[in-house]
Parts: sequence; structure tokens; C-alpha cells
Amino acid sequence: MTKIKFVEFGGTEHEVDVTNGLSLMEGAIKYTVPGIDGDCGGACACATCHCYIPEEWAEKVGPIDELEKDMLDFAFDVNETSRLSCQIKVSDELEGMTVLMPERQY
Ligand code: FES
Repeated sequence: MTKIKFVEFGGTEHEVDVTNGLSLMEGAIKYTVPGIDGDCGGACACATCHCYIPEEWAEKVGPIDELEKDMLDFAFDVNETSRLSCQIKVSDELEGMTVLMPERQY
């Protein structure tokens, strides 16, 4: 289990223990954290799991691949910290990480 803090656009925080091996999106859905939809179930085909990863965690979550980069074109309010949360696997390395949510997914 790895502690992840999801922060809604309005600032509401949700600190949850996510099972290692699940994606951030799956962790958010499991605990019904609002702000992450995950419509395609993690197939990198919907971009409704868009989130922002603070710079200090970027290296630990690993690089973005081309498919994820392409799908982010469909997300709302993308910036240089944008990622698709279904493409980031939770592991001990991410203990204590903060994940920020966009204002909306559509
Ligand atoms: S859940 Fe669809 S792209 Fe992440």
C-alpha cells in the first residue's frame, strides 16, 4: 500500500492507501475520489483521468510515452505537468505523492 494524496481543483484533499500495482486512476476510482473519471478503464483511450503531477515527483513517476502524449491532446487545461493517471502505476517509490486534479475532465 502506498499513501497518495489526491487534491481536487477546489483544494479538497483525499489521502488514500493505494495497492501497489494499481494505477493512480484505479486508486482514485476505488476510493471514489471525485475529479478522476477513467471512462475507458485505463486503456489510454479517453483522457478523462487527466491529472497534474508536481514537478518534484515527475522523475519518480517515469517518462510519458507517445500514446499518452497524444491522448493528452484531448484533455482539458493541459500543462507541462499533465499526465494520464491510468498510465502511472503505484509503487513504494510514490509514497506520499500529491496528485492534483484539473477543474474538469471534459
Ligand atoms: S482512463 Fe482513459 S485514458 Fe486513462
